[in-house]
Amino acid sequence: MATASRGQWSGKTGFIFAAAGSAIGLGNIWRFPYTAGENGGGAFVLVYLLFVLLIGVPVVLAELSLGRRTERNAVGAFKALFPETKWHWVGGLGVATGFGILAFYSVIAGWTLWYLWEALLGGFSGSISAEQSETMFVSLTSDPLLAIFFTAVFLALTVFVVRGGISKGIERTTKILMPLLLVILILLAIRSVTLEGGMEGLVYLFKPDFSKITFGVIMNAMGQALFSLSLGMGAMITYGSYFPKRENLPQAGAAVALFDTMIALLAGVIIFPAIFAAGVDPDGGPGLVFIVLPTIFGSMPAGSFFAIAFYALLAIAALTSTISLLEVVVAYFVDERDWKRSKAAITMGAICFVIAIPSALAAGGSDFFTNFFGSGIDFLSLQNIIWGNYSLGIGALLLCVFVGWKWGVPKALESLESGGYSMPAGNIWGVLIRYVCPLAVGLVIAFIIITQQYM
Ligand code: PFF
Repeated sequence: MATASRGQWSGKTGFIFAAAGSAIGLGNIWRFPYTAGENGGGAFVLVYLLFVLLIGVPVVLAELSLGRRTERNAVGAFKALFPETKWHWVGGLGVATGFGILAFYSVIAGWTLWYLWEALLGGFSGSISAEQSETMFVSLTSDPLLAIFFTAVFLALTVFVVRGGISKGIERTTKILMPLLLVILILLAIRSVTLEGGMEGLVYLFKPDFSKITFGVIMNAMGQALFSLSLGMGAMITYGSYFPKRENLPQAGAAVALFDTMIALLAGVIIFPAIFAAGVDPDGGPGLVFIVLPTIFGSMPAGSFFAIAFYALLAIAALTSTISLLEVVVAYFVDERDWKRSKAAITMGAICFVIAIPSALAAGGSDFFTNFFGSGIDFLSLQNIIWGNYSLGIGALLLCVFVGWKWGVPKALESLESGGYSMPAGNIWGVLIRYVCPLAVGLVIAFIIITQQYM
């Protein structure tokens, strides 16, 4: 009896940690703060939270229910239910998106590794001004070989894990490391809010200035909600396919969404007070977090230790996300094209590396990619928007139409409720998936096209 109930408990928490491992990553700690900073702070955060509730949570459950019912990959899930239709192209879009995201995500993850290396060398002891920190950041990102090298190392790590399929090991590691990351983040948040001038940062983060809301801000908030929860490209379909039939899926899905959102907000509570204390512009773009954090470590007792712990945990959080990105691609080639797992992981990792090079050169390494075609936007930010906002948005929209109208709410609910759990507010979920989510996502994209506020 005791063993049985322990086994069950472990099944569900195992899933929660694996899915939370996918969701929690650079999206929370790097992308959320800088996107909030570029989109006016509090107003963006409010819209983001609305999207998490109205679209994020329902779509998490939709993807998980589809995965659990079919026990297949992102493409196979659609094929299993409607083999004669073109619906599996939605999964195909997801595979392409996984590739697209991985190709810029691994560049940022590479920066994390370099910062870890610097931390190990003692680079974050003693007080560090924002100017010094920026010089350090630029010296990394504008060195083409260094940026490409760390991208390659990170992709190699991802391939290594996905190739071995050692998900058990990952599950076990995340169970220990995720809570540790949470502890470090809380300590950093305490340090940050007590910095002189820090309160101003909290006001910026949480006090909405409604005049800042534009269609561009709404689009970015929607993209951020999907990106952060790993939605719109089949990652949660794949993870749902491993979810035990006898466990409570709605509860586990909600826990993942809650956990993910908490970590993003906590990252904001760390970064924004420090931004204001150090006198940095919140609109600083992708380098923001990397420039601001060293100023906090520099002002902390045992700052070097915190820097090492933080960058190590951040790199691991990023790794558990890149694993899920590559896994969507690899699972497709293994299941649908009969490739060996090892061949799929290595080939796709290598192709991804080549596609990642322009992004690795986009923060100063090459003028062409830093100011792409003279457009004023760098190649990495462009990829981030194309794949991380639009592609995920379109993927989520199609998924809602599929689950709500083609497969149908009753069947999806049946999958969500298997194991004998009732889905709280199942009717409301049905309305959200059929009407609210597709309409909201569709309207946001339509208005963006009409008003041409693409970024
Ligand atoms: N959710 C991850 C993060 O916030 O860092 C990024 C991500 C992983 C997006 C997997 C999409 C995905 F399928």
